Amino acid sequence: MTRRVVITLLPAAALALAGCSTMQSALDPAGINARQVADLWWLMVWVLSGAFVIVMAVLAAALFAPRHWRERVRGTTLIAAGGVALPVVVVPVFLLASFAVQWPLVPERPDRLTIHVIGHQFWWEVRYTGPGLAQPVVSANEIRMPVGQPVQFRLTTEDVIHSFWLPNLAGKIDMIPGQVNHMEITAERTGVFRGQCYEFCGAQHAHMAFMAVVMEPDGFAAWLAREAQPAPPRGPVEERAFQAFLRGGCASCHAIRGTTADGGGGPDLTHVGGRLTLAAGMLPNGEGPMGGWIAGAQNIKPGNRMPNFNGFDGETLRALSSYLYGLK
Ligand code: CUA
Repeated sequence: MTRRVVITLLPAAALALAGCSTMQSALDPAGINARQVADLWWLMVWVLSGAFVIVMAVLAAALFAPRHWRERVRGTTLIAAGGVALPVVVVPVFLLASFAVQWPLVPERPDRLTIHVIGHQFWWEVRYTGPGLAQPVVSANEIRMPVGQPVQFRLTTEDVIHSFWLPNLAGKIDMIPGQVNHMEITAERTGVFRGQCYEFCGAQHAHMAFMAVVMEPDGFAAWLAREAQPAPPRGPVEERAFQAFLRGGCASCHAIRGTTADGGGGPDLTHVGGRLTLAAGMLPNGEGPMGGWIAGAQNIKPGNRMPNFNGFDGETLRALSSYLYGLK
């Protein structure tokens, strides 16, 4: 019996504990906007918890208290006070408090770092533009940004509607075809945070995540300079793996800057090995997951646009995975 209770409660406890994880939590703010949202949430929690306790106390008094107490909670005075007067005060306070939350939509400034996030069904395209960048730096499924500096986001989508949400850093905002939405995020501390699509966008909606890495400004500048570099094969082993990449048809959807692979439609792979995850937050990055994804993308994320490339022999698949994971 006890065992059955434990088995039943374990998943619930695991879920509750997972809610405490701070990597994706609106209650562990690491950005200005997220902190304001969290403050508003706590204000509402405390005020409404107080209201709940009062209502329950009155209910208990009405049911169980001695007669002279029950007489007191009868009549219209209490209804008028608790049901009309109190909300008339509390609701406008909530309204004003929510107006005080900084609206993340701000005018664009060309002198600032801008991160363009373009939703695609199944993945996120990420482009960096701004001062010192002659050309956009293209990446996917991961965002890097400097701490303590306002960063502009331009958000749109190629196909279906998505919603861009980084709970630790800011509120959520929709990504709508044909429309560019703007928001500004200022991160207050460094760290790795998980973002999640928040608008149903098809069968793999729940598997449409991304990582946001907030870095010290110097580290970020160095990373961006490296990310802007092309990545041609550096030796005969890489060259052979790259030829397998071409033979497999990978270049019809993927680009690797500095090579002849310049396909669109799928994520840019120029520095794919430097990302924390693969397939929009689905797998931890590594040689093994890379090989698994190439050979079995449809088993891992059914319905996505990448077919299973299971025609490679083991040695070639291994060389290809090693080459791609080596693109740091
Ligand atoms: Cu993209 Cu839900």
